[in-house]
Amino acid sequence: MSRLSVNPLSEGLRLERRPEPSVLLIFGASGDLVARKLVPALYSLSQQNLLPARWALLGTSRTDWDDDRFRAEMKAALEKFGDLQGSDGALVDEFLKSLFYIRSDTEDAQSMGDLKSRLEEVEKLCLDRPNRLFYLSTPPSVFATIAEQLKEHGIARSDGFTRVIVEKPFGTDLQSMRELNRRLLAVFDEEQIYRIDHYLGKETVQNILVMRFANAIYEPLWNRHYIDHVQITAAESIGVGKRGGYYDRVGALRDMIQNHLFQVFSLMAMEPPVSLQAGAIRDEKTKVVRAVRPVAVEEIDSLALRAQYTSGSIEGGPVPGYREEERVDPDSSTETYAAVKLRVDSWRWAGVPFYLRSAKRLPRRASEVVVHFKPAPHALFGADGSNRDTNRLILRIQPDEGVTVKFRAKLPGQDLRLRGVNMDFDYGASFGRKSADAYQRLLLDAMLGDPTLFARGDLVEASWELLTPILESWQERGAKGLAYYEAGTWGPAEADRWLAPEGRAWRRP
Ligand code: BG6
Repeated sequence: MSRLSVNPLSEGLRLERRPEPSVLLIFGASGDLVARKLVPALYSLSQQNLLPARWALLGTSRTDWDDDRFRAEMKAALEKFGDLQGSDGALVDEFLKSLFYIRSDTEDAQSMGDLKSRLEEVEKLCLDRPNRLFYLSTPPSVFATIAEQLKEHGIARSDGFTRVIVEKPFGTDLQSMRELNRRLLAVFDEEQIYRIDHYLGKETVQNILVMRFANAIYEPLWNRHYIDHVQITAAESIGVGKRGGYYDRVGALRDMIQNHLFQVFSLMAMEPPVSLQAGAIRDEKTKVVRAVRPVAVEEIDSLALRAQYTSGSIEGGPVPGYREEERVDPDSSTETYAAVKLRVDSWRWAGVPFYLRSAKRLPRRASEVVVHFKPAPHALFGADGSNRDTNRLILRIQPDEGVTVKFRAKLPGQDLRLRGVNMDFDYGASFGRKSADAYQRLLLDAMLGDPTLFARGDLVEASWELLTPILESWQERGAKGLAYYEAGTWGPAEADRWLAPEGRAWRRP
């Protein structure tokens, strides 16, 4: 059985299993992600004894570093971003001994030859037979070239396992996604490709499956008879920071909705899988994305909305507008707020819209899923309208992870007055520990060969298929039709007006 920590049995298996010895070869090793996320995650895994008994990381990029410099940089990164609680310098130094580095240039045959020799040398230090895990943490424009060069130089296969983790974004539209997929599949099989989506590594996202399929109380309600609509929100208070150059070509729909929020949507809306096997879960996820009704050009404005932040204030301090951000085109029409309405053509979901929205520079960081239930069929207490406030189930993905059920209760007193109250489950309070960073889980899964929490090509393709007409229409219209919102507010007034005709309103997380 595939391992997914959704029941105690499989959790038990997880702790007993240890990945086979392997070398992790990271491209783009001098980049931000490696310092902020990957190396701190690997260090935490090593401290929990979850890394293979014999293991090494070989970093590579165009930056002219050597082993010592890489180790020094990663030491600084661990001090800044790592969880060093309970660690002393000796443990960190011991971990750093497994890190190696070689400069490489995929366009230079000599350099690729040197990379191969270095990889084999590192493998000899720690492995009986080579198991290779590649991690493409580079700009997406070179993903396919790296894969092709690995093949060309005989690095893309080994006597053990060979897998490749590919960072996002996986394409920028349907065509580029297909092209990237085609080129990767000329080097690796689908089973060897691990498309990372860090939302799938979040405990609360994994918990969606447990909530739905380990409890009998929700599933009978999980359909068009009881659910009015679902809102999936990823709100951020940060702006684009130093990533303006990347973000300005991408925008919120590609950056967050096509990948992270579609993954969350598929987990919320999928049919029960026949087992916990990766294939069974991924089949159901893809099926539901394929059941989303395609968007006709004339419907785009009623199904999708975009906006951009202007200057404003966050947490009491002034912040610039998007067009004033570093490396952003001063005339940019890139959206920093995007919302889409998905209509799922299935027996379960006919007539139940799923609204997905994500934005930067909102008042606070909060990702959540809100299931809005239909009102009680008969308004027994409704004369004063107090029965209208319907039940909601809120899955709080971050930052205060948990689940809330909102329902109505009688206010104490001689008369009959109702008030909304909450029933709360809080991760931290219940389990007494913080959730681990998503990259720990995902790196470990890739080492173990469990693709459950990675995006499969067919789902990624189905999501691009749905969103590409919207992206093309926005691109064509430029700033025409783009709405604006002040940084630090909950988005443009247009977003409220967009939902209002349906008798619905956005929830403020
Ligand atoms: C990344 C996006 O994939 O996810 C960023 O590129 C975004 O723009 C980030 O800030 C959000 O991740 P999280 O885990 O903070 O919700």
